[in-house]
Amino acid sequence: MDTKLKKIQVQAQEQGIDLETLPHHLAIIMDGNGRWAKKKGWQRLLGHREGYKALRGALLNASDLGIKYLTVYAFSAENWRRPSEEVEGLMSLIEKATREELRIMHTNNVRLNFSGRIEELPAGLRDALETGMEMTANNTGIVFTLAVNYGGRAEIVDAVKDLIAAEFDPEDITEELISAHLYNPHQPDPDLMIRTAGEMRWSNFLLFQGAYCELWVTQDPWPEFSKQHLLAAVKEFQRRTRKFGAVV
Ligand code: FPP
Repeated sequence: MDTKLKKIQVQAQEQGIDLETLPHHLAIIMDGNGRWAKKKGWQRLLGHREGYKALRGALLNASDLGIKYLTVYAFSAENWRRPSEEVEGLMSLIEKATREELRIMHTNNVRLNFSGRIEELPAGLRDALETGMEMTANNTGIVFTLAVNYGGRAEIVDAVKDLIAAEFDPEDITEELISAHLYNPHQPDPDLMIRTAGEMRWSNFLLFQGAYCELWVTQDPWPEFSKQHLLAAVKEFQRRTRKFGAVV
């Protein structure tokens, strides 16, 4: 490591984190915005707005720490079942955030990416995501993937449809082939998944890719997610022995 360590990298080292063995791909289930708002007597959408602020911090911290891929669950394929006011509020918040953060993402060499059934999203949000991806396509820093209208099962269904349309022989179907037909085939599988707000569930997020990822759950709701949570999760990740089904 050179002398130009970022502040968070120095803090990480002080806490015993090895910067050479960070998770390559961090996935986050940002849960608890609604409960956080309710506790304050606020509307749920205000919780999502605070969640946006927490996400800005998490992206820049993950980037400064040296993590190469960050994927966040911003809207699941099942979230359409929420009241229409909340769905519309979330769609416009994600669009607004994508547009507002584009300059800062670009300045920080972030490459914006997307995962999910984008064709079913409102035109304005689709445009914001496509514009952002185009603008940051040549950036070489952290790849930041927004999972919007994303479902792990739907992703596998879409991959199977592609394989059938391409008339693959069943004998040729392998895990690698399925993996190559997922939404982001060039990304490494997530190796650490953080979930906030205490639920011990996977919630249909990166089902195929996350088969061996380490889970780290905090009781704190997403709007309270801080640099300390990120460092604690990475520290715990490095403490675990990853066996991939073998004996180590
Ligand atoms: C879960 O909290 C959170 C979501 C369904 C949406 C996540 C959205 C954000 C963090 C807002 C900003 C996103 C972007 C991309 C700018 P919940 O509503 O399920 O909370 P609850 O379980 O307490 O009800």
